[in-house]
Amino acid sequence: MKDTVNHKTHYSPPWADVSIIGIAGSSGSGKSTLSHAIVSKLNLPWVVILSMDSFYKTLDAEASRQAFLNEYDFDSPEAIDFDVLVSRLRDLKAGKRAEIPIYSFAKHAREEKTTSIYSPHVLILEGIFALYDPRVLELLDMKIFCEADADTCLGRRILRDVEERGRDIEGCIKQWFTFVKPNFERYVEPQRKVADVIVPRGVENRVAITMVVQYIERTLTEKSKSHRAELKKLGQIAEDD
Ligand code: CTP
Repeated sequence: MKDTVNHKTHYSPPWADVSIIGIAGSSGSGKSTLSHAIVSKLNLPWVVILSMDSFYKTLDAEASRQAFLNEYDFDSPEAIDFDVLVSRLRDLKAGKRAEIPIYSFAKHAREEKTTSIYSPHVLILEGIFALYDPRVLELLDMKIFCEADADTCLGRRILRDVEERGRDIEGCIKQWFTFVKPNFERYVEPQRKVADVIVPRGVENRVAITMVVQYIERTLTEKSKSHRAELKKLGQIAEDD
């Protein structure tokens, strides 16, 4: 992908240091619904959801052929371009604009167009491997693992893949048992160990969502306070401001 990040566009404080929340969990566990529930409860203007799907690697012709036969493993960490993800997250942490690829599940490929993210207050990174790479973990302010029964996940995934991702039922089931389920056990589930919070029943879990939202709000208030104290020390705002 063409790197179009403009390194001159720095964002000034108060929010140079974006808070990043990572949400991992099985495919179909409800990570994206949970992310939207958190966003809608957070009464803030600059909250962005970044899906890790944007960072699937580009496939060559043979891999693409396998993908259309449901024979390509999208559930291995190898399928994700963590280097690009880490570089975009670091840019955002540093207050720079980040160009994000747009992914098409129907085409198993990135779209031509990208989208750009610029200086959010809060960024929610959601994906099956959101808590996988140590470089990503270092950048996260909160680590969440979203949990649901495997049959719930499979049911949701079939409905979604057929309705929204241009798949057929047989292909979904084949992919689930060949790649999704075994790799969940191998790579996804172990991320529970590094999570700060495990959210059972995803979006139905109002108590957990309230706790997460309160934590984010508290973190932002503390950041704001310490930033204002810093500005006062530098004489950039009045003592009583
Ligand atoms: N995947 C796919 N085809 C691709 C790329 C990815 O089928 N070309 C599948 C992978 O098998 C992986 C899943 O997409 O398991 C990742 O997305 P998923 O976690 O299911 O979707 P989200 O909306 O991010 O999460 P949730 O279902 O929890 O809301």
